[in-house]
Amino acid sequence: YFRPDGSPAYELAVYRTILTHPEVAEILRANENLEARPDDVIVASYPKSGTTWTQAIVEAIMFDEISTVSIFGLDTNRWCNLYSMTPSAIAARPSPRLMKMHVPLTLYPQSLIEKKCKIIYVRRNVKDVMVSMYHWCRNAPHTHRACPSGSFAEFAEAFMDGQVPAGSYFNNLAAFWSHRDDPNILMLTYEEMSQNPHQTVGKIADFLGRPMGPQQVARIVEATSFGEMKKKEKGGAENGNATGESSFLRSGSTEQWRTTFDPELLQKVDSWIQRSIHLRDNLSGYIA
Ligand code: A3P
Repeated sequence: YFRPDGSPAYELAVYRTILTHPEVAEILRANENLEARPDDVIVASYPKSGTTWTQAIVEAIMFDEISTVSIFGLDTNRWCNLYSMTPSAIAARPSPRLMKMHVPLTLYPQSLIEKKCKIIYVRRNVKDVMVSMYHWCRNAPHTHRACPSGSFAEFAEAFMDGQVPAGSYFNNLAAFWSHRDDPNILMLTYEEMSQNPHQTVGKIADFLGRPMGPQQVARIVEATSFGEMKKKEKGGAENGNATGESSFLRSGSTEQWRTTFDPELLQKVDSWIQRSIHLRDNLSGYIA
């Protein structure tokens, strides 16, 4: 990771299998001993897969109200961030605690696994994840220091190598995939959320033990739509983005990869996907 003049752009640390900021690695290590509560709820994902969207839905269901306070339509006071909050700050939060996690299941604090906390894992077509992460990296290179620079094709190589924030996409997915039938894990896809948001919100509400009628579901679908969440996002420049564009609520669509990948790259990425699926027995049946 070097600037065009050859000087190092940023310092990185490895937290177990994850390439991250040194300060994040330190906090993640401290939070390994987190004392879970059975009613903790976790939204898990590989970044750029629809995490924030899922968080907004979960928050609206758990608190029976729509947040108006923060930048992406989330109330950050309701979310414990294991990447930035100290163990004592997390312990001080009232129940039910909501958490977002981008690390693979194998790296979770043991107590979250033992208490069988509810985990909602959202995944997205990996090619669209690549496109989304590429733009996110370009928009905020200083915030997201583990981002490689260069063209989309260069970014794609780094992504396939796991040399990006959050490490390898398939490492992240594999452990959750092998637990996909566990009763405390709900697997969602960005694509099903886009195609059928009402059904998805209903499914999440049932999973969280808070079944909802059609009117409540419709209200949450509306409040967490791309357009509504975008209204609550602060301007891109205000968020420190290099290009001044919005870094989070960017396109909100599926199949963007079709207009981004050239045939050569597509072939490379397709064969990487096939290899990754076959290398990991527990991903059999996965469709990219
Ligand atoms: P794009 O960059 O493709 O637009 P994450 O929260 O996991 O980082 O994911 C970010 C991606 O989810 C971005 O994708 C963002 O636009 C999209 N997203 C966020 N909220 C959304 C919503 N309410 N509806 C659809 N897509 C949403």
